[in-house]
Amino acid sequence: MTNPDLRTRRRRLGAFVGGLAATALAVTMALPAAAAGSTLQAAAGESGRYFGTAIAASRLSDSTYSTIANREFNMITAENEMKMDATEPSQGQFSYTQGDRIVNWARQNGKQVRGHALAWHSQQPGWMQNMSGTALRNAMLNHVTQVATYYRGKIHSWDVVNEAFADGSSGARRDSNLQRTGNDWIEAAFRAARAADPNAKLCYNDYNTDNWSHAKTQAVYNMVRDFKSRGVPIDCVGFQAHFNSGNPVPSNYHTTLSNFAALGVDVQITELDIEGSGSSQAQQYQGIVQACLAVARCTGITVWGVRDTDSWRASGTPLLFDGSGNKKAAYTSVLNALNAGGTTNPNPTPTPGPTTPPPTGGGSCTATYSEGEKWGDRFNGVVTIRANSAINSWRSTVTVRSPQKIIATWSGTPSWDSSGNVMTMVPNGSGALAAGQTVSFGFTVQHNGNWTWPSVTCSAS
Ligand code: XIL
Repeated sequence: MTNPDLRTRRRRLGAFVGGLAATALAVTMALPAAAAGSTLQAAAGESGRYFGTAIAASRLSDSTYSTIANREFNMITAENEMKMDATEPSQGQFSYTQGDRIVNWARQNGKQVRGHALAWHSQQPGWMQNMSGTALRNAMLNHVTQVATYYRGKIHSWDVVNEAFADGSSGARRDSNLQRTGNDWIEAAFRAARAADPNAKLCYNDYNTDNWSHAKTQAVYNMVRDFKSRGVPIDCVGFQAHFNSGNPVPSNYHTTLSNFAALGVDVQITELDIEGSGSSQAQQYQGIVQACLAVARCTGITVWGVRDTDSWRASGTPLLFDGSGNKKAAYTSVLNALNAGGTTNPNPTPTPGPTTPPPTGGGSCTATYSEGEKWGDRFNGVVTIRANSAINSWRSTVTVRSPQKIIATWSGTPSWDSSGNVMTMVPNGSGALAAGQTVSFGFTVQHNGNWTWPSVTCSAS
């Protein structure tokens, strides 16, 4: 049997080299079989898109869960850990421990992060639920500023405002304490987010906005059009895409995505889950993927959890892996639809390389970056070298992003490439390590406005 992925890829490669001689085509086809399309992230990456999942920090210690998440997905959303109640449990006291667990896991595994969510009527801390008027407006803006500043440089896209429109036929804003601070609360939140993190894409995110003919869809569309015309900083619209029999995948989904994209924003499917099972569920997933791939500015898809049992709607078995971590029919249909291709995202964000390189030669080592102290103009980083098996020595590279500069180092001997961005660190003295043994070195980065973490590698001899 021919693998359907391979058939599709051959067709595409064949079309691509259509004018070339048959021998050249044969050479192209003899390339190793489509390793690129064997996971969701690889298959989506072929067209410049990402494929993501929501992650719960408490589940990362479950190795079945983290193995699937690491293998299949390259965009991570914190399911609850970056919401207002998690990040500002008492007014003015911010807590990033849980959010950092997810961001650090993502970055250590070379993945990007969607920030979710800065301002929302739901999952507000108690102190905020009881606020109103100017005090609430200011508290909300301060929250947006503080959280977006803390995570600056680490977020691909922020859901700046979540679920601000009412369901049903009114096309009105949802009544909430935030809405009652004045109709301009949404644009105020976007402006605060842009000032805090100029490099993150800023999204409006909502559900029940999939069917083009629904009043809620039209209302969000009109807001985005208005924002674009008045220069309110908005870059993307997130479609949560929580489907079930009462809210099925609409046949006009592609129309919705392309009409929004035509306003000059990216569109992202941000919380996809579809209740059901078997081929019916698989077909609906396929329809969503095809609709996204048909729109160049549909830049990625995120599913809302890994296994059915991880889902917020577990009884509806709405995800791509069953409770044991097996791939469902829906998984296969998504993978095949991604591999069948479509339009290419014209402006993909490169995914940072993993901080853990493949093993080299006999002994191997792993480099892991962790954040140290931070000041206004600089931050410390620590790299931990771990010998996976016994090694004689190690060398580690640290790549900083211009205009960052490493201004101090300790516990190693550094040398530099001509750009000054790549530091190679070797041990002071013997680098011999027994299997499982670790050693650390550190450095100070003058960030010059760029807070992106350095990437690190290790090679052993
Ligand atoms: C859900 C989480 O999955 C649950 O764990 C939590 O109890 C409630 O929130 N729309 C959103 C998400 O934007 O934040 C919601 O996530 C699901 C609906």
